[in-house]
Amino acid sequence: MFPSLSIVRSAVCLVAALSLTSTEVPSKASVAAQKSKALVTYKPNGEMLPPSNYREWIYLSSGLDMSYSANPTDMTRFDNVFVNPDAYRSFLRTGSWPDKTVMVLEEREGRSKGSINKQGHFQGTNVMGMEVHVKDASRFPGQWAFFDFASPTANGTLFPKSAACYSCHAAHGAVDTTFVQFYPTLLPIARSKGTLSPEYVKESAAKQ
Ligand code: HEC
Repeated sequence: MFPSLSIVRSAVCLVAALSLTSTEVPSKASVAAQKSKALVTYKPNGEMLPPSNYREWIYLSSGLDMSYSANPTDMTRFDNVFVNPDAYRSFLRTGSWPDKTVMVLEEREGRSKGSINKQGHFQGTNVMGMEVHVKDASRFPGQWAFFDFASPTANGTLFPKSAACYSCHAAHGAVDTTFVQFYPTLLPIARSKGTLSPEYVKESAAKQ
């Protein structure tokens, strides 16, 4: 007979704990606190505190000078998209986003002059903008909501349902109002799991 999974797990934990010195062993309380720590926190007035460690989440993609308007802009801009690791793993299994998914879009200036660079662009150190797309059915009537952060340390304000964010994402996002068609590790999964939105399937068929 095989040992049960929980016995194997506790043996692994024991080994892990033993390899730490006594001062490094995390207390039960701090482990529990970490586990229950919500990814994002809201203030009583509905503002969202900035998700502090999103740079340790899963990187989905960078858009370079992506624009909803056909007019060219004179500034080079990168946007980097991150998602919390649990939601990413769930997407790999199912092709869809679980409740409590948090996605961060971070904007940075694209620079070309610096160090040894002669061509192309690299990202500047200043975050020029930050937006969050969050799924929380118990909090938002449409499940998903958008927040805007004036700076990475400022609190985020909720966009009202009438904002263009909701309509464009609903009409063109490939999976559940998110732009999976631009996230190269996720698009093939959504395809194989059959979770692409009918709108996106229609839109991409018309473009071929
Ligand atoms: C006209 C269409 C359009 C509108 C309007 C729009 N977006 Fe997006 N959004 C996009 C596209 C395209 C991407 C993919 C970006 C990439 O690939 O880097 C995106 C990605 C995002 C993401 C990353 C997560 C996801 O859902 O894929 C966030 C967060 C986001 N947008 C926030 C906003 C906010 C906030 C607003 C409103 C102020 C907004 N967007 C308005 C097209 C739009």
